[in-house]
Amino acid sequence: MMDIIDDKQPYRNTPIIGDLIRTRPLAAAMGGEVLDVQLHELTDDGFHELEQALFHHKMIFLRDQHLNLDDQERLTLRFGDFGTDAYTKGLPGHPEIQPVIKEANTKSKMVFGGGWHTDSPFLAEPPSISILHGTEIPAYGGDTLWYNSVLAYEGLSSTMQSLLNHLRVHMSARNVVDSMRKVAQDTKGMAAMSDMDLDLDIESMVRGSIHPMVRKHPESGEVALYCDGVYAIGIDGMTDHEARPLLQWIVSHITQEIFTCRLRWEPHTVAIWDNRVCLHRAFNDYDGFRREMLRTTVKGEVPIPAFA
Ligand code: SIN
Repeated sequence: MMDIIDDKQPYRNTPIIGDLIRTRPLAAAMGGEVLDVQLHELTDDGFHELEQALFHHKMIFLRDQHLNLDDQERLTLRFGDFGTDAYTKGLPGHPEIQPVIKEANTKSKMVFGGGWHTDSPFLAEPPSISILHGTEIPAYGGDTLWYNSVLAYEGLSSTMQSLLNHLRVHMSARNVVDSMRKVAQDTKGMAAMSDMDLDLDIESMVRGSIHPMVRKHPESGEVALYCDGVYAIGIDGMTDHEARPLLQWIVSHITQEIFTCRLRWEPHTVAIWDNRVCLHRAFNDYDGFRREMLRTTVKGEVPIPAFA
């Protein structure tokens, strides 16, 4: 049994005091620190409360976790099947764990996750949840920001909501692939995206998928904008000339500071977020320091339109 304290507008990102899980909000818009819990020790009841805390805060994080590779896989599987990792083959012996690495001496214009995005929306069933375990963290820099796309939807005028409610957005990795090619050309073939060993099915990533622009969360029923600055390249039934400025405007709306929270990583911080209701981006501001994260994703559903 969990109480969500004083859950009313405008401050909805309230703390949770459960039987097994307690949280401290990170920002007014979203995000919550789960206190005094080791993820690998969670009982089923504890896990259930953690999942509810995730749906409430949209991104949760825990400090000082003792999570080995098997633990991270087991934790991920408690949320559902593994998601498709469209970018790498994963770690040797742990194909579902994707290393996200930038070496101290690497200077790259592009880091994995550096643009405003939701994870792999070019897939027909994009990952619902992502888990990121910070194993080596820069002395400063390398934060991650999240953007609450439920609040962003609610922050629209009813006229703009009606305009967007029935649209379908084309999500494709075309811009990512183009940028990687450009960076590789400029750097004469150096690793295009930090220090990651990429394994891409470019054709299907670029073909992408068409998803509802306004989607409904299958558990909470919340309605969110599903559009980002990296993968959203078109709107079904519109010309590029029509779609481009609208997409740019939507992204400028979602990415306002009032919808965000920002995490300062420490070694062995674990963050868990729900891609259906938020965007995120990583900062490339820590040249000279190594950053190593281990990432897993949970398979999601075909996005449910909020308005049929
Ligand atoms: C990601 O986009 O999943 C990576 C985020 C990060 O490295 O902070």
